Amino acid sequence: MFLVLILSLVAAVSSVTISPHVRHEHRRDIPSGWRAARRAPLTTVLPLRIGLVQPNLDQIEEHLLDVSHPESPNYGHHWSPAKIAQTFRPSKDSVDTVRQWLASEGIDASRVTLSKTGGWLEAKVSVKEAESLLKTEYSVYEHESTGTEHLACRSGYHLPEHVSKHVDLVTPTLHFDVKLKRGPAEPVEKRESQVKPGTAKSIGQPGSGVVTPKTTGRVNGILQELSQCDQFITPNCIRALYDFVYYPLATDKNSFGIVEYTPQAYVPSDMDMFFTNFSKSQVGQRPGLVSIDGGVVQDVATSFGFNGESNLDLQFGMALVGPKQNVTLYQVGDLVEGASFNNLLDALDGTYCTFEDGDDPSQDGIYPDILPGGYTGPASCGTVKPAHIISTSYGYNEADLTPAYTARQCAEYAKLGIMGVTVLYSSGDNGVAGNSGVCLNPDGSQAVGASGFNPSFPGSCPFVTSVGATQVNPGAKVTDPESACEQVIFSGGGFSNYFALPSYQEAAVTNYLTKYPPPYALNIFNSTGKSRAFPDISANGANYVVAINGEFSSVFGTSASTPVTGAILTAINDARLAIGKSPIGFINPTGQILAVTQMVLPPLRVGIL
Ligand SMILES: *[C@@H]1O[C@H](CO)[C@@H](O)[C@H](O)[C@H]1NC(C)=O
Ligand SMILES: *[C@@H]1O[C@H](CO)[C@@H](O)[C@H](O)[C@H]1NC(C)=O
Ligand SMILES: *[C@@H]1O[C@H](CO)[C@@H](O)[C@H](O)[C@H]1NC(C)=O
Repeated sequence: MFLVLILSLVAAVSSVTISPHVRHEHRRDIPSGWRAARRAPLTTVLPLRIGLVQPNLDQIEEHLLDVSHPESPNYGHHWSPAKIAQTFRPSKDSVDTVRQWLASEGIDASRVTLSKTGGWLEAKVSVKEAESLLKTEYSVYEHESTGTEHLACRSGYHLPEHVSKHVDLVTPTLHFDVKLKRGPAEPVEKRESQVKPGTAKSIGQPGSGVVTPKTTGRVNGILQELSQCDQFITPNCIRALYDFVYYPLATDKNSFGIVEYTPQAYVPSDMDMFFTNFSKSQVGQRPGLVSIDGGVVQDVATSFGFNGESNLDLQFGMALVGPKQNVTLYQVGDLVEGASFNNLLDALDGTYCTFEDGDDPSQDGIYPDILPGGYTGPASCGTVKPAHIISTSYGYNEADLTPAYTARQCAEYAKLGIMGVTVLYSSGDNGVAGNSGVCLNPDGSQAVGASGFNPSFPGSCPFVTSVGATQVNPGAKVTDPESACEQVIFSGGGFSNYFALPSYQEAAVTNYLTKYPPPYALNIFNSTGKSRAFPDISANGANYVVAINGEFSSVFGTSASTPVTGAILTAINDARLAIGKSPIGFINPTGQILAVTQMVLPPLRVGIL
């Protein structure tokens, strides 16, 4: 017995594979605003994390369509979280191969841990060790305006060929951040200027460039609601526009979640101000708070920048589903560190969570928070039952993130879809440009005035439903057809540079490119007809009347379109749940069929009286 063990150990050691290093991931440049300040000190310790390849991902679209395509016999037969976990858990072979490689490079097995869900291997290593493992060089980068420092490798990192095929991505390596996690903690004071961008930043931070509802200022009083929808959008305008009048029947089974990233927060008195004018029976009603990673509805910093997004999403989302249907508020991230989409995904899906600081520290809040004043509870990991519809009005530029990072997150959205969750993301407010109006240079860098289109993420992930904005044209009636929003904001859209065309979109994209070829140089966007196009659906996004800090303001954005779409889809779920059917889950394949049938049928009526 003992001898067998020794022999097999010898066999294991002697079978260690040696293969040449290949480049695993790279980026062509660093994001604008950053510069390399100096070589990283070789003794600095990194939490190196290796994201293992998940099996069966090549079939994830097939699995998703199997339960989401209206013509599939399995439509609506959504999977349990356990079946998801079982199907996509990395193989033992992947775990062993990476472990053996680390051991052969002198990283003792005792230093290496496997996350609970089997997705990541982690080891604390010095910069010197990481550089030798990954055949790369780490630098300290400095942000030009905030002075914040960030550790990253310059252009690429490498893995032995036989290891590379078992790995999705390694962090921290290439990923730069639009929100900086580990700055000095500052007390949040009652003034906006104290919560500075560049100190402890989440995607909820004003000035982070990723939260973008815009306002043209104060609205004084609406005299003739329905005849003024071209100037002021109220819940009644939305009902009239989309023939949306619905009395829910299955509120005990139904759910609608709206996601906000701290420090964005709704203001209770503003909710009541809005309800008093536009939905009287809801005065006093609040969303059901689900706090993720210390999420709080903060009331220390108030302004359009801190409250505009949350007030807009919740006032319209709640008014449109009405007083009987609870709305869940997923408030993500604490005041000190903030959070990213991965923190929400961790909470919704335990299979994504690593339990051991496994998120990417350059992109994701890491909990428990080590900064003074930060959240000290455990990370929210697989703790939240996802709502049937989840609406998020925040987004990155695809180019802020690496293809491997976006691919891994996109697969998580597919998993939620397979479980029957509808995931909505706003498509962005800058047309074909990215957040802050930046476009892409040929070398991949982002700049104002560059010529390349700059798609948004997660909207460019084919497994979310990306929501664009429309407008009631100036002077038009609420019953007239709308057009794409081009007042104050421009509805975001375009073609992904990272994701291929999903099969459900083939007919629509081919039709668009042949019948309405865009009049632009073919090299400034992926014009091959083979990449993912977005948005998937649109709803009004102009002139919303929103109560913010004690006054009504006129607000614009796909930020508005998204919760409104969520509220309408929530009514469809209610009608289905009431007759014992499944929730709608991933709707994009159904949307394609409706788009085609609508050409020959009278307009679809959403309202069910
Ligand atoms: C809200 O209601 C008050 C009281 O009726 C009214 O004076 C005010 O003009 C209304 N605001 C809007 C934006 O309609
Ligand atoms: C709505 O939420 C409240 C508070 O969370 C709860 O008491 C109530 O039972 C919920 N109602 C429904 C219909 O689920
Ligand atoms: C366009 O997208 C497809 C699918 O992702 C990809 O194969 C192709 O290389 C892209 N073309 C260009 C010019 O980027």
